[in-house]
Amino acid sequence: MSILVTGGVGFIGSHTVVELQNAGYDVVVLDNLCNANPKVLDRIEAITGKKVPFYQADIRDREALNEIFDKESIDSVIHFAGLKAVGESVQKPLEYYDNNISGTLVLVDVMRQHGCKNIIFSSSATVYGDPAFVPITEECPKGVCTNPYGWTKSMLEQILSDIQKADNEWNVVLLRYFNPIGAHKSGTIGENPNGIPNNLMPYITQVAVGKREELGVFGDDYDTPDGTGVRDYIHVVDLALGHVKALKKIEEKAGLKIYNLGTGCGYSVLDVVHNFEKASKVKIPYSIKPRRAGDIATCYADASKAKEELGWEAQYGILEMCEDSWRWQKNNPNGYDD
Ligand code: NAD
Ligand code: WQD
Repeated sequence: MSILVTGGVGFIGSHTVVELQNAGYDVVVLDNLCNANPKVLDRIEAITGKKVPFYQADIRDREALNEIFDKESIDSVIHFAGLKAVGESVQKPLEYYDNNISGTLVLVDVMRQHGCKNIIFSSSATVYGDPAFVPITEECPKGVCTNPYGWTKSMLEQILSDIQKADNEWNVVLLRYFNPIGAHKSGTIGENPNGIPNNLMPYITQVAVGKREELGVFGDDYDTPDGTGVRDYIHVVDLALGHVKALKKIEEKAGLKIYNLGTGCGYSVLDVVHNFEKASKVKIPYSIKPRRAGDIATCYADASKAKEELGWEAQYGILEMCEDSWRWQKNNPNGYDD
């Protein structure tokens, strides 16, 4: 029996494939490569010593999915495939709803037709909107999302929950990630954004490697200790290990489960800059810019439910996250391009 990883060539997916193979699972990867480079597959193989069976296919392509499910014996799906750029989603809502929502509807329908009713879904802390309280527990009410990307996550959570409610043969684990950064210790796989990075850590690493002049810090007048936004950064390898634990929960026929995957610690933008400078010994020039539309002041997890029910807890601290992000960027200044 194999685990199908959709979006398995991307940032979080590739790290999860490594940890699944390390844990002894047979993995099959599906990705349309719209935001990923196939070189990742060789790099995963170099890390784990195992081949990665790969299908280049789109989750909206029912015929392609049918072929994969006919050919492979898929027990569970870990579903990462999706578009994820917040700003772009505001410009292209139709593309985001089509890719993320229509794609997932086709995927789960094909799964159902093949009797595969186990899915782990990549959700996001973005579903909490401006959270009613911090640290955020899973009981915190879902909020108003500020962009179509966030709505796709919130709506897909509802859709998958309804599917599980209607048919309790389904096991659905919704994992709400906080802010994944870091990279595999080998420095051979990591986050590889196209164009100007939207997220903080890839922007910092590109400044450090000389590709960008300075970091813009989006606002220093939030109600936080230093005025800059506070987030719960989590090492991508910890996140990947969370999926291995979630798979164990699926194997217990868990029904519907929801977990936050975060560290429980909040760091401000300037905390991250300072930790990165310490880890890399590179100075990061920055200037204060206006607040970014849609940003909130503070977001960090209460991750105790994942600890109690999955036996999962983040191991890596912020300094190690910075060291590993830096190793990846330094060794691969142009990402996967030569
Ligand atoms: P990523 O873009 O690196 O990975 C997503 C992968 O999905 C890419 O390889 C892309 O080529 C593929 N893909 C996209 N649309 C597809 C389609 N229609 N068919 C097949 N493949 C398709 O992103 P990531 O950071 O690894 O995120 C993985 C998942 O986690 C996404 O669903 C994302 O929304 C979610 N998530 C990410 C973050 C984050 O900050 N990185 C936070 C919370 C949730
Ligand atoms: C972090 C902090 C910024 C860039 C996003 C998505 C969320 C989830 C994770 C997918 C904030 C500040 C950033 C920069 C800055 N993704 N910042 N200068 O916004 O918390 O979350 O990624 O689900 O849905 O919204 O992450 O890394 O963009 O920002 O000052 O150049 O860094 O204002 O305080 P965010 P981020």
